Amino acid sequence: MTYRWWQKGIVYQIYPRSFQDSNGDGVGDLPGIVRRLDYLQSLNINAIWLSPIYPSPMHDFGYDVADYTGIHPLFGTLADFDRLLAEAHRRGLKVILDLVPNHTSDEHPWFIQSRASRNNPKRDWYIWRDPAPGGGPPNNWMSYFGGSAWAFDETTGQYYLHLFDVHQPDLNYRNPAVREAMFNVMRFWLDRGVDGFRVDVITLMMKDPLFRDEPLNPDWDGIDPAYKLKHIYTSNLPEVHDIIRQMRAVIDEYDDRVMIGETYLPNEELMQFYGPNLNECHLPFNFQLITLDWDAQTVRRAVDEYEALLPPGAWPNWVLGNHDKHRVATRIGPAQARVANMLLLTLRGTPTVYYGEEIGMEDVPIPLEMMHDPPALNQPDQAHIIGRDPERTPMQWDSSPNAGFTPEGVQPWLPVAADYTRRNVAVQEQDPTSMLSLFRTLTVLRRAEPSLSVGAYAPVDTPAADVFAYTRTAPHADRFLVVLNFGRGSHTLDFSHVASRGSIAVSTGMHRTGPVDLSRLTLGPDEGLVIRMG
Ligand code: GLC
Repeated sequence: MTYRWWQKGIVYQIYPRSFQDSNGDGVGDLPGIVRRLDYLQSLNINAIWLSPIYPSPMHDFGYDVADYTGIHPLFGTLADFDRLLAEAHRRGLKVILDLVPNHTSDEHPWFIQSRASRNNPKRDWYIWRDPAPGGGPPNNWMSYFGGSAWAFDETTGQYYLHLFDVHQPDLNYRNPAVREAMFNVMRFWLDRGVDGFRVDVITLMMKDPLFRDEPLNPDWDGIDPAYKLKHIYTSNLPEVHDIIRQMRAVIDEYDDRVMIGETYLPNEELMQFYGPNLNECHLPFNFQLITLDWDAQTVRRAVDEYEALLPPGAWPNWVLGNHDKHRVATRIGPAQARVANMLLLTLRGTPTVYYGEEIGMEDVPIPLEMMHDPPALNQPDQAHIIGRDPERTPMQWDSSPNAGFTPEGVQPWLPVAADYTRRNVAVQEQDPTSMLSLFRTLTVLRRAEPSLSVGAYAPVDTPAADVFAYTRTAPHADRFLVVLNFGRGSHTLDFSHVASRGSIAVSTGMHRTGPVDLSRLTLGPDEGLVIRMG
C-alpha cells in the first residue's frame, strides 16, 4: 500500500498577516514566511496552507478577493511567491493555497461590471434579486456576519446576495461562465506549482433556485446570529457536489495535488463530500475536535463514529484549531492542550495544525476599540464571544520587543500576547519539557512509525470515564497504545489484555520513558502517554 504525502503528512496553517513581518509595516508577509521555512521544516510538518494572500481591500482580511491571480502588495509580489514555493519545495514542504470561490470582494472587476447595469454581461455572475413585493430584502436569509444577507444597490434597484460581509458578494455558480473562470484560477496556481487548495466555505456555493425563506433553528444558542436560521436553502444543497466534482477534475489534471474542503457538518453529511467515487474532496475538513465538548467519552464516540462512517478508501483528517475558532489552549487549558496535541498527532488521518499551537499559544484578549473582525464589529454586544482577532495575533518567536514578529517600535496589526517573553519559540527550544519539545517529539515519532501515520485505529475500553485509549497498528511495524487522561484525577489501569510488554515512547509530562507494567499503568492528572507495545 502506498500513501500520498497528504495522507502521511501534517498540514500547518499559516495566517500570513501574523506569521513574520519582514518589512516593518506590522503585517506579516511572504519574505517573512521564507525566513521561517527552516523552522517549519524543523517541526516535521509536510505542507503549509496559507490563508489568502491575494489583492484584497481586507474587509475580511483577504477572504474578500479582488484579484484571484495576484499577490497583495502587503504580502509581497508574485516573484516573492515563486521564491517561497521554490524554497519550500527545496525543503520538501508542499504549499497549499486558500481558494475563496463562493464570493469575491465588491472591488473585484467582475462585481464592478455586474453592478454597473442590469444588462451588463457580468450581471448574472452574481446573485441579484428584486425587492420583496412589499419592499425590503427578497427573503429572510441572513449573513454569517450579522443582519440580512441582501444589500440594496441604488444604481440598478436590486439586491445582491452576500452570505458574509456586505463587501463579499456571492458568485452565481449556476452560471457556467463563473465556474470556468474559477477553474482557470485554479489552473493558474497549479501551473505555477502549488500543491493544492483549501477551499473556503465549499458547502455554500449553491443556493436554492426558488429563494425560499429559511426556517428558524430551534436549537439556536441565542449567541451567534449566523445560526439563528436553519441553513437548508443556502448550505449543503445537492447541486453543490456537481461543482466540487468539476473542481476535483481540475485538480486531477495535475499530478499529486490535494483538495481540502472547509466543511462544518455532522458526520453523515460530511462523508458526502468525499464524493460517490471518492471524486470530490480528498480531505473534507473534520472539525469535531474543535466543535465538540472536551470530554474523553464524547471525543471517543466522535472518533469511533467518524471511523465507522468513512467510505471505503476515504482518508480521515483531524483539526484542532484555525483562524476562525478560539485557540485550543484557551478552550481547554494549557495542560489539556498537550493531551489534545498528542491526540491530534496519534489519531489515524491527516492532522492540521494552526500556527502557534506548537508552542501552546493562547487567545489574546482584544479590547473592542482594537478589534478588526467584521462579525465582531457588526455585533459589538457579542464581540468578545464571536470576534476572531484573539486567535489571529502575531506568532511569538522570541523574547525581543514584539516577539520577533515585527521590529521594535513598529505597531503590529494586532497586539502580541502579554506573556510572550515566557511563551515563545526561542525559550521553548531550550526547554526539553516545553510544548514545542513535546510537539517535535510527537512529529518525529509519527514520521518514523507507519503505525502512527497510516496504521489502523482501534479503541480500547477502560473503566475510567476520563480516559480515552486506543491502539495504532500497521503490518510489519511496531504497534502503539495511546492512553490519554482528559481529567484532573490519577488512574491506575490494566492494559495487559492489549499487550504483555510496553515501553513509553512519549509522555505529555516528558519525564517518563522506558518500560512500563501494562497491568498497572498509572496515569497522572492531564497525562497522555504513547506506548510502544512489545
Ligand atoms: C471561511 C473563512 C473565514 C471567512 C469566511 C468567509 O469560513 O475561514 O475566515 O471569514 O469563510 O470567506
